[in-house]
Amino acid sequence: MVDITRQPGRLRPAPENFLSEEQVRAVAAGRRDFLRRSLLAAGATLTVPMAARASEGDSNILQNPEWTTTLGQPVATRPYGLPSKFESNVIRRESPGLARVGGASVSFTPLQSMFGIITPSGLHFERHHQGWHDIDPARHRLMVNGSDDSLLKKPKVYTMDDLMRLPSVSRIHFVECGANTGLEWGNVAVPTVQYTHGMLSCSEFSGVPLKVLLEDCGVDYKRGRYVLAEGADGSSMTRTIPMEMVENGEVMVAWGQNGEMLRPENGYPLRLVVPGVQGVSWVKWLRRIEVGDKPYATKDEAVHYIDLLPSGLHRQYSSIQECKSVIATPSGGQTLLAKGFYNVSGLAWSGRGKIKQVDVSADGGINWRTARLEGPVQNKALTRFNIDWVWDGKPAILQSRAIDETGYVQPTYGQLRAVRGTKSIYHNNAIQSWKIVESGEVSNVQVL
Ligand code: MTE
Repeated sequence: MVDITRQPGRLRPAPENFLSEEQVRAVAAGRRDFLRRSLLAAGATLTVPMAARASEGDSNILQNPEWTTTLGQPVATRPYGLPSKFESNVIRRESPGLARVGGASVSFTPLQSMFGIITPSGLHFERHHQGWHDIDPARHRLMVNGSDDSLLKKPKVYTMDDLMRLPSVSRIHFVECGANTGLEWGNVAVPTVQYTHGMLSCSEFSGVPLKVLLEDCGVDYKRGRYVLAEGADGSSMTRTIPMEMVENGEVMVAWGQNGEMLRPENGYPLRLVVPGVQGVSWVKWLRRIEVGDKPYATKDEAVHYIDLLPSGLHRQYSSIQECKSVIATPSGGQTLLAKGFYNVSGLAWSGRGKIKQVDVSADGGINWRTARLEGPVQNKALTRFNIDWVWDGKPAILQSRAIDETGYVQPTYGQLRAVRGTKSIYHNNAIQSWKIVESGEVSNVQVL
């Protein structure tokens, strides 16, 4: 086991002037265009320049359209609302590069089409180790017990009705799979932000703090320093959560997501919310919590979700998602249609608290400007940033670099690989680069 408390970038000064313009061009010039062309048709979105068309005789202004001259549809045509048919391209997608084994698969959130910080529930990414179930809430139970009776005096079994009578809270948090951006470790880039960063979503979750349940069951905090969370699906998903995270009240047993019950794909009727921690610990279809006096070393923490380091050791039992950001528009697969003004917009997040600052570069990391953060900036939630940019029609490399409230600076690929090598699958929080060429096409490149 290795010390994972420090990662490259933490408390280091912001990297600057580490790459010459010439070097950036050299890196940006090569590879991957073939991938972008072949794989991204589905995710492409165009950034359309504003144009005053009235003077050109635009019939959309000169004639009344049918929606002005005919009756609209009555209420309750759709008892549960749906997006416009014109938004049918805004969907979760499975990666063409990832095999589906049985129900074990992943679908990615279309970050390139999102506004603000909340992910609509129907677009929340999915990661199932053995498929999803639509569990009857009347039959679902949550058992809370101790690994021995002295750790938890009154083991209990709760029904959904029991749980939903308890004092509840609602909080906005991001959830990111530890494997997000995993395909980029070995330089194998995928074409769009949906596939590079789309195992990331942010919702308002509602539920009861786990602390309330443990205290209801008579937990002994002195000896009970760990919690085991277990899901009801066939994957036997089990993860250890350190008790400090529970004691501060942040870990939640949640039934609500964005104002309604959780979606079945996201754990209906009950899931664990572990703010700042990688998605695998957010156990879905939660059926059991056990209090123990040592980590459980389950298969999902001892064998999976570990990273092979250059030294041959494994980086194990990592949990916090370090500070990270990505520009979502413009991003890979999109095309800038004309020179001129663009609002460059993206998302930043940190498992250690709030985002303090996001800087954006248009020249591959040589010069940086500080972006505007959309407030209120929240703890362990996505933060939307925006910056004005006038594209002069010349090649550019857009990057964002986030800094969190602890002072941690998001690392470059060079900095991250110097410590972690290239053999990891998980926990890649390096700075993402999008190359823009004269035609306006945007593609995924890596700048060291
Ligand atoms: N919980 C159970 N019971 N089974 C699972 O397969 N997948 C985990 C976690 N919780 C999983 C689970 C993983 S790997 C992730 S990244 C998150 O759920 C994904 O949550 P989501 O599908 O709601 O986005």
